[in-house]
Amino acid sequence: MAGSLDGFIARKDGRVDWLETSDEFAGGEAMDPGVVEAFLKTIDCYVMGSRTYETALRFEDQGLGWAYGDTPAFVLTSRELPRTRETVEFHSGDLTQFVNARLRPRFRQIWFVGGAEVCAECLRLGLADEVRYSILPIVIGDGLRLFEQLDRDVALHLTEVKAYKNGMVALRYQVR
Ligand SMILES: NC(=O)c1ccc[n+]([C@@H]2O[C@H](COP(=O)([O-])OP(=O)(O)OC[C@H]3O[C@@H](n4cnc5c(N)ncnc54)[C@H](OP(=O)(O)O)[C@@H]3O)[C@@H](O)[C@H]2O)c1
Repeated sequence: MAGSLDGFIARKDGRVDWLETSDEFAGGEAMDPGVVEAFLKTIDCYVMGSRTYETALRFEDQGLGWAYGDTPAFVLTSRELPRTRETVEFHSGDLTQFVNARLRPRFRQIWFVGGAEVCAECLRLGLADEVRYSILPIVIGDGLRLFEQLDRDVALHLTEVKAYKNGMVALRYQVR
């Protein structure tokens, strides 16, 4: 997840226009597209909530492309949603059973894309091994909270911190 310094991952109406920041941090690392591409190749499947999927479809309609390539993408929903490509599958029902019985035997690196509700559910159910959160150099005051309505504490162990030239700080935690 990428969020504002004040802990929001989208505006209340779902917009993520503020993700395009224009800061410069001289001491930061350059974002190497080759490294990003190699990292994305390590992801074996994506899991996302229906509202995140709807945002991805809107991006596609605006000509911004599909962010998840040919990697399988599982969309959690109880609704009938448009299926625009064969790599997308829909699922409803018990998330623990779905992840442990259906996804884990097939996929090693399972990436929960979001949004706030699905990420909270994932942590609450104890399904996450690792949390990756990147803080962008902006404060937006209001919006959807990262891990919306998580009803318990989740202790983390910090494993990596990287600061980039664009002012983004990428944090990586193991769930304890
Ligand atoms: N900044 C970032 O890094 C980042 C990353 C990802 C997303 N986002 C943003 O986050 C926003 C969406 O977040 P959100 O919290 O509103 O929604 P979300 O987590 O994307 O989707 C929540 C919806 O998914 C469905 N769902 C969740 N768990 C389910 C389960 N176990 N079984 C069946 N369906 C389930 C339900 O919808 P149904 O009514 O369809 O059943 C639920 O309302 C978007 O604006 C997106 O752009 C930001």
